[in-house]
Amino acid sequence: MAIETHNIKDLEGIFSNPFPESINIPWELKPRDYENTHYRYEMEIMAMLCRMQNPKIAFEFGTFEGFTSLVIARNTKPSARVFTLDLPWGSESPSSYDRFNASFVKCRYVLYFRGRPEERKIHQLIGDSATIDLSLHRCTMDLIFIDGCHQHSYIENDTKKAFDMLKKNGIIVWHDYNTTWPDVTPFLESLSVKKPLFHIERTNYVIHKTNEKE
Ligand SMILES: C[S@@+](CC[C@H](N)C(=O)[O-])C[C@H]1O[C@@H](n2cnc3c(N)ncnc32)[C@H](O)[C@@H]1O
Repeated sequence: MAIETHNIKDLEGIFSNPFPESINIPWELKPRDYENTHYRYEMEIMAMLCRMQNPKIAFEFGTFEGFTSLVIARNTKPSARVFTLDLPWGSESPSSYDRFNASFVKCRYVLYFRGRPEERKIHQLIGDSATIDLSLHRCTMDLIFIDGCHQHSYIENDTKKAFDMLKKNGIIVWHDYNTTWPDVTPFLESLSVKKPLFHIERTNYVIHKTNEKE
């Protein structure tokens, strides 16, 4: 069953902070112009989610070149911490990976937060999400972004670990719903039978927000 689509403004009520008046995205670091692109809109939505959720601690599965990590760091308070996990640079991807997932592991050329003031807020974790022990972070995360390997067993594992790390009133954001990644949409649609999920209009983000009763 398709997940219900909502405009970000309609979801304002589920967050502790109001819809933000301003956001901060480091476009000056990107060589090409992203004016009017889907990518730009998604980054803006990520920044808005951060401002409305106001996480003390955030976690990202799949750092890649660290642009979203930097967006999260720039749109959270100075004391916030951002953990971001990826496989080691230059590593071979696990043999079960298809070529699309393998290409993301291989094609990392810059790390956007390296050397920037926000780097002090960001803790890079190096490891495979399938095997890394994240139990130390149990019930501590206010915002979790799932954007690592897009194959079913990995999305399922990352989601399980995310729910384990999620704090009361925390939010999980998955990337790539309704895209050509074949496993993401069916996985999220089957999850939506058990957990309330919202698709954010004009993005490929799906979110889940816990409430006091969970
Ligand atoms: C789509 S990219 C992430 C994009 C990034 N979140 C962003 O918004 O810029 C996927 C990332 O997941 C990483 N990845 C793939 N498999 C992983 C695994 N098993 N454990 C940790 N990271 C993984 C890849 O190396 C790649 O950098």
